[in-house]
Amino acid sequence: MLAATDLTTRLAEAEARYVRSNPRSRRMHEERARFMPGGSTRSTIHQPPFPLTIIRGEGATITDADGHVYLDFLGEYTAALFGHSHPVIVEAIRDSLAEGIVLGAPNRHEAALAEAICARIPSIELVRFCNSGTEANLLALSLCRAVTGRSGVLVFAGAYHGGILLFSHGISPLNPPFDWFVAEYNDPESAVRVIREHAHELAAVIVEPLQGAAGVIPGDPEFLRTLREATHANEVLLVFDEVMTARLARGGMQERLGLTPDLTTLAKFVGGGLSFGAFGGRGDLMSRFDPSRPDAFQHGGTFNNEVLTMAAGAAGLTQVLADTEIERLNGLGDRLRERLNALAGERELEFCATGLGSLVGLHFTRGPVRSERDVPDAQALRALLHLHMLERGFSYGRRGFIALSLPLGEVEVGAFADAVEVFPLEIALK
Ligand SMILES: Cc1ncc(COP(=O)(O)O)c(C=O)c1O
Repeated sequence: MLAATDLTTRLAEAEARYVRSNPRSRRMHEERARFMPGGSTRSTIHQPPFPLTIIRGEGATITDADGHVYLDFLGEYTAALFGHSHPVIVEAIRDSLAEGIVLGAPNRHEAALAEAICARIPSIELVRFCNSGTEANLLALSLCRAVTGRSGVLVFAGAYHGGILLFSHGISPLNPPFDWFVAEYNDPESAVRVIREHAHELAAVIVEPLQGAAGVIPGDPEFLRTLREATHANEVLLVFDEVMTARLARGGMQERLGLTPDLTTLAKFVGGGLSFGAFGGRGDLMSRFDPSRPDAFQHGGTFNNEVLTMAAGAAGLTQVLADTEIERLNGLGDRLRERLNALAGERELEFCATGLGSLVGLHFTRGPVRSERDVPDAQALRALLHLHMLERGFSYGRRGFIALSLPLGEVEVGAFADAVEVFPLEIALK
């Protein structure tokens, strides 16, 4: 293991180079900080000493304020699945822009998007739109609580269900005051125990079929199947948060797993790259939002059917996201993961790549990584690798988060792996 002082020195040198080569990003960060706390309106994308300000995105590349061009392996935490400025999506936005926005009524695009979603994910018999994944999860859980008359929700340690639905190393103080129960991810016994013991208090279990923010950790099929069986048996509703995982198959992870949740939440790429959220599922639950019913639940939202998003999302799902492209991208991710894990194995490194298909996580441990407990903090090493990759023209999430996007191919993914290989993994990690 690299001595702590060496690591500190290397990181300080890398940060100094970063500061020197990004004067405009630094200035823009300082300007933002005059009006926004810490210069940020989105904690996820802050990173010390300051984040790069990105001024353009085209295809697989992004350009920062100082003119550096990066291959984008972050893919906006999965929302940029289509890449930047995909011509079909840009055209759909342009066309609908020409017809006017904020129309204050149903528009001609929303049925197309709803139909495309329901066709892809059969468990979604009816769907409603909102503006973010956070909102989708809040609405899905609120629906569960309202229909069951129970207030408890079982979540899994490390889960990220949104800006105010955060369960990383505890329950965020900003979360809504539901009665939260927290079990270990990938530990079916502990989950079943909570479900059985608290069935009378639980409205829902919400789970990411693959935990994204916690470290790109796939759920064991057996774990997820057990959740389905235990929720069924105890009359608790099951919500699949497929905000990140919907991209892994035409019908999302539930299709790969052969499981049918009661409700599913979506966001990110499903809106074509514009701000979007959706929740849907069983007809008997979702029909409570039918405004013509005397007992209808009210669910307003000025931008729920925002015209540009509806048009962009429909174009993305119906014209761009072919099944063959999903497969191709998953293959690229699988090969990247296999190559990095082979490298770590050959050199006996404390390093591994996690994930499934086009979602990849990088960690400074041999693994296995099965829950947030297995993810080492390793902040300095994560920062050093991240700065190393930026210097070589690759952008990804500093915490080790990679989401491949459609404009990427074998050449780019191979080059990314080459760049990881020349990081001094041996010196640092043996
Ligand atoms: C699994 C999961 N659920 C929900 C969300 C929240 O989505 P949004 O950022 O659109 O609110 C995210 C965001 O990263 C996510 O990864």
